[in-house]
Amino acid sequence: MTRWNSIEIIAGADAAPTLVFASGDDIHAPEALRGRVASIIKAAGFEGKPGRWLDIVGEGEAGGRVVVVAVGAADSDDRWRHAGGHAVEAIRGLGLAAARLPAAAELGLGDALADVIEGVLLHGFRLDQRRREPVPGQFASTLLIADADAALADRARRRADPVNRVRAWVEQPANLLTPAVLADEAEAALAPLGVRVRQLGPAELEALGAGGILAVAAGSANEPRLTIAEWRGAPDREGWDAAFVGKGLTFDAGGLNLKPRPGIAKMKFDMAGGAAVLGAVERLALRKAPVNIVAIVPMCENVIDGKSYRPGDVITSLSGLTIDVQDTDAEGRIVLADGVTYAAREYDPAYIVDVATLTGAIMGVLHEEFAGLFTSDDALAESLTRAGADVREPLWRLPLVAAQDYLVESPVADVANLGAPGWFGAGQGSPVAGAKFIEKFAHGRRWAHLDIAGTGWATRRSSRGGPGATGFGVALLDRWAGLIEKEGR
Ligand code: BES
Ligand code: MN
Ligand code: ZN
Repeated sequence: MTRWNSIEIIAGADAAPTLVFASGDDIHAPEALRGRVASIIKAAGFEGKPGRWLDIVGEGEAGGRVVVVAVGAADSDDRWRHAGGHAVEAIRGLGLAAARLPAAAELGLGDALADVIEGVLLHGFRLDQRRREPVPGQFASTLLIADADAALADRARRRADPVNRVRAWVEQPANLLTPAVLADEAEAALAPLGVRVRQLGPAELEALGAGGILAVAAGSANEPRLTIAEWRGAPDREGWDAAFVGKGLTFDAGGLNLKPRPGIAKMKFDMAGGAAVLGAVERLALRKAPVNIVAIVPMCENVIDGKSYRPGDVITSLSGLTIDVQDTDAEGRIVLADGVTYAAREYDPAYIVDVATLTGAIMGVLHEEFAGLFTSDDALAESLTRAGADVREPLWRLPLVAAQDYLVESPVADVANLGAPGWFGAGQGSPVAGAKFIEKFAHGRRWAHLDIAGTGWATRRSSRGGPGATGFGVALLDRWAGLIEKEGR
C-alpha cells in the first residue's frame, strides 16, 4: 500500500511547546499569553513575514516555550491554510517532536482552525517510507490539539487525506505503482466508504473492444486496467450527474516515439488526472455528497517492446471510430477516448469531465498556476471556472471551435492522434488538438477537458504544500459537485 507521512494530529493535553500566530498586529494566542507575546514581538523587532517564526522560551505553561508563527495579512482567504504550512516549517525547523495548538476558541479562530490543520496535514506530506536509512534531522512530529477541536480536525482530515493519497500515488515510482497496483489501492481506499469499485482487466477489455487502451498497453509487461468507482450519494434520484474520466498512465516513456532523456523520469506522474478523479470521489464519499458521480480511469503503461503499437498504425477504439496513430507519445487522448466512450455508453451522465496530464505545451502557456479548460459548453465552463477559483485550483479557458477540426483529421482513419503537424516542431503537441481529439468521442454531450500537465506537479510552494505532486483537481471537482448539488444540473 502506498503510504505517506505527515504530521500526526492528536487530541490531548500533553505538555509541548505552544504554537500561536501573528498576523500583522493581530496576535492569535490564548488570553494569558497575548500581552506578553505582543511585547516580546515588539522588543525582538519580529517583522512577522509569513514563513518566519519566533521561538520564545520561558513564557508558556507547557515546556515554557511558545512559538510565534507569522501569518499573511487578513486579505487572503487562504491564509490559515498557509499558516498551517508555516507551522509545519516551524515545527520541523526547530526540530520539535511535538507542538500544541491551543483551542480554536482561545486563538480566536473558530472554524478557521480546520484550515490550519488542513494546512498542517498538506504541508506535512512526505513520501519517504521507502528509505531504509533515516535522513538526519528528519523525524516524525505530532501536533496536539484541544479535545474540543476534534471535530474540526476530522473535517480537516476529510479534506486533506484524499489529496495526500493522490499526491502519494502521483509521486510513487512506476515500478511500485503499476496499473494493477493502482487499481487495487483505489479499491482498498474507496470500497470501505461505500463506493462501488470495479476493475476491468485485459480479458474484459478485449471482450469489450477497448482497442485504444489495449493498443497503448500492448508494449508493457504490466497489464492495463479500466477502473470504475461509482458514488451514488443520491440513490433516490435516477441516473448519473457526472462522469469524471482521468488519464491513468502509470508511466509514459512515449512508446516507440520515445521521449528524449531529460524529464522522462517525471512521467511516473502521468496518472495524476486518474488519481485526481479517484481522490474527488473519495472526498464525495467522505462527506456523503448527495450526487451520483462515477470516476472512470483507464490505467496502463506506455513503454517499448516488440508488441508495442507503432506510429502509423490504425486502431479501432471502443467507440468504433478508427484512430490514425501518428505519434505513440500522444497516448493519453487514445486511452481517454475509450474512457469517455465507456462513460457515455454505460452511464449516460449529464456531464463528462476528463482530467489529464495531456500536453507538455500547456506548461509553456499556463505554467503551474492554471490548468487548461476546453469545452464548447459555456455554462459548464462557467461552473468549472467558478469551482476552481473557489478552491484555488484555477482554470483558464482556451479555444475549442469547429474551425479547428482539421487539427485531428487523418487521410486514412476517422481521427488522427496528431494531425496538422509543424506548429510546435517534432514531438510537441498542441493542447487544442488534444482537446479536439477527445471531443470527437464525447459525441456532442456536455463535456469538458482539463489539461493538468502543468498544475499536477509543482516546483514551488503553494498553500497546499509542495514542491511535488499537487493533487490538483480533487478540491475542484469536489467543489463543482457541490455546485451541482445546490444549483442542479
Ligand atoms: N504525458 C505527456 C504530456 C506531458 C509532457 C506532461 C511533458 C508533462 C510534461 C503526453 O502523453 C505527451 O507525451 N504529450 C506529447 C504529445 C505530442 C506527442 C503530440 C507532448 O505534449 O509533447
Ligand atoms: Mn505521451
Ligand atoms: Zn502521457
